[in-house]
Amino acid sequence: MYSRIIGTGRYLPERILTNADLEKMVDTTDEWIRARTGIERRHIAADDETTCDMSEVAARRAMKAAGVTAKDIDMVVVGTTTPDQVFPNVGCLLQARLGIHGCAAFSVEAACTGFIYALGIADKFIRTGEIRTALVIGAETISRMVDWTDRSTCVLFGDGAGAVVLRADEEAGIISTHLHADGKYKDLLYFPSGVSKKSKDFLAGTDTLVMKGNEVFKVAVSTLGRIVDETLAANNLDKHDIDWLIPHQANMRIIRATARKLDMPLERVIVTVHEHGNTSTASVPMALDLAVRDGRIKRGELLLLEAFGGGFTWGSALIRY
Ligand code: UT7
Repeated sequence: MYSRIIGTGRYLPERILTNADLEKMVDTTDEWIRARTGIERRHIAADDETTCDMSEVAARRAMKAAGVTAKDIDMVVVGTTTPDQVFPNVGCLLQARLGIHGCAAFSVEAACTGFIYALGIADKFIRTGEIRTALVIGAETISRMVDWTDRSTCVLFGDGAGAVVLRADEEAGIISTHLHADGKYKDLLYFPSGVSKKSKDFLAGTDTLVMKGNEVFKVAVSTLGRIVDETLAANNLDKHDIDWLIPHQANMRIIRATARKLDMPLERVIVTVHEHGNTSTASVPMALDLAVRDGRIKRGELLLLEAFGGGFTWGSALIRY
């Protein structure tokens, strides 16, 4: 038994922040941002818009595309590091919105890799026969964590949500997922506070995301290269067998490096980073939905999804769409 993606959806907030807007906020230029990252604009959640709000829109679109209703869903898993509240988790909040009752619902906190983790978990439940249909989300309101006076981070991030519906099928489907983490890198990319640890800045309401961008960049490029090798080797595949690369959208230069590793022309890579910057765990499911809906990705093609983020966490999924 395998799990198979039977529907996808995405949501981007209406409010757009362009590079030109950022030039008025911090000491930066459109030219620097485009050259170093490939980002042109990002979407920012409205003041009263939450991770669950965005997840709901993406989920409804995915469920409509899949032709399923609330009563079909046996599990809700939301990858997010920016939940509406500590508990109930976003999975439960989303369950209530969608009128889904009784099945397991939870969130997975693995930063930018959260969606791949969520996908890997839901896939295992379907493979073992415990559930038949799962709603898997990657959603982030990362703009709420950003210091909008720090040019080295604020130009990079945006908000959004992506969703897929997985269903049991005798044919693959999700062929394999590969999940990793190494906490020794905890000081390179982090948000300083939580519930059990509150910094002075947190109490003052001024805590923000911290990233040593240059160091993260180097580890990201080498780690994503390794996970591509691992995924191909685990499935006895050659790099030329992959039809589409769907990478985490953090930086165009990192995406290019992974594409080069696969000897893949950019036309076979789904790139959305220019449109919404780094939306953390939402970026992979949103890119997947975009390319499914615009007809680039077709049934039967082989997809390689990958992501890397705070923790560090990283992971991949090989999928016969
Ligand atoms: O999603 C989770 C994983 N995250 C990532 O993958 C992000 C990884 N890192 C990156 O994408 C890149 O490191 C950045 C885009 C964040 C930065 O690019 P970089 O080429 O590594 O630049 P840098 O940090 O080495 O900075 C180069 C220069 C510095 O000036 P000096 O010291 O050379 O005078 C920075 O102060 O660029 C300066 N700089 C800026 N200049 C204009 C930093 N941010 C900006 C800015 N506008 N927004």
